[in-house]
Amino acid sequence: MPLDYLPSRPRRNRKSPSIRGLIRETSLSASDLILPLFVQDGSTDEPIDSMPGCFRWSLDGLLGEVESAHELGIHAVVLFPAIPDRLKNSTADESWNPEGLIPTVISAIKTRFPDVAVITDVALDPYNSDGHDGVVSQDGRILNDETVEILCRQAMCHADAGADIVAPSDMMDGRIGAIRAALDEGNHQEVSILSYTAKYASAYYGPFRGALDSAPKSGDKKTYQMDPANAREALREAMLDESEGADMMMVKPAGPYLDIIAKLRAEVDLPIAAYQVSGEYLMIKSAAQAGWIDEDKVVAESLMGIKRAGADMILTYFAKEYAKRKV
Ligand code: PBG
Repeated sequence: MPLDYLPSRPRRNRKSPSIRGLIRETSLSASDLILPLFVQDGSTDEPIDSMPGCFRWSLDGLLGEVESAHELGIHAVVLFPAIPDRLKNSTADESWNPEGLIPTVISAIKTRFPDVAVITDVALDPYNSDGHDGVVSQDGRILNDETVEILCRQAMCHADAGADIVAPSDMMDGRIGAIRAALDEGNHQEVSILSYTAKYASAYYGPFRGALDSAPKSGDKKTYQMDPANAREALREAMLDESEGADMMMVKPAGPYLDIIAKLRAEVDLPIAAYQVSGEYLMIKSAAQAGWIDEDKVVAESLMGIKRAGADMILTYFAKEYAKRKV
């Protein structure tokens, strides 16, 4: 029996693929994606136990990965180094060694693939014998201003090697302004800053810390990374980062923090990145490997949700899978 009066039937707009295509509100393409890559010294490409499908690449392996990503339309990568314990100390000196792993990798990528945007993570944890993003005092406090000084050296070192964008992930106060000043003073006015603006103290980073053996040796990161319970505080961080000269801001993790992405989108005009982190990757990957979900479809839906919430770009370990997807 037809309903006799129903002028508004939303299903009319869903009746065929062509009409669904016309009314689609959000699009996501490979050029919106940033591929995070792990790199280590030496000639072996080592599978990462805590992140199936991901590798700690040798320089050669990494260049191959950048090339295949590039062919799939992914033109931006972010680099994370695995540093051997013997090069770690409590002031993370290796983090600004111009002959270190990351500067070497940056210049190799820029030489072979000049049009790939190279983004570097600026934080001390992979180089710090204490495993924290900042310098730890005798009594266990994270020293803000001392850390910012080292972060400036690290950012300069990456810029000197040819990085397009430096991305401070440490959450120290005042680091964006200090890094901007250091870069400008060092004639790197063109190097951008992607600030990890709202980085939460999240258990979803666990698999990443396994990949780099970079977990804190004592304590946790709650005195610098944000409390997952807080949303207004993200706005406070965003206002500070904008005033200090950030070019782009990031929300991290992504999936469990869609409200934060939407909130920042509504309140600030800078481009917003969201990081689908290692734990989010692993949950989808492991369910797919068990045959419980369709990987391509869930990946596409999870990324679309992040884009729909307001992200302009997404860092995801699934970047290549998404670009290759058949659904
Ligand atoms: C380090 C850093 C972390 C991640 C990116 N940069 C770990 C942390 O803060 O402990 C996590 C990324 C991921 O989980 O995929 N400053």
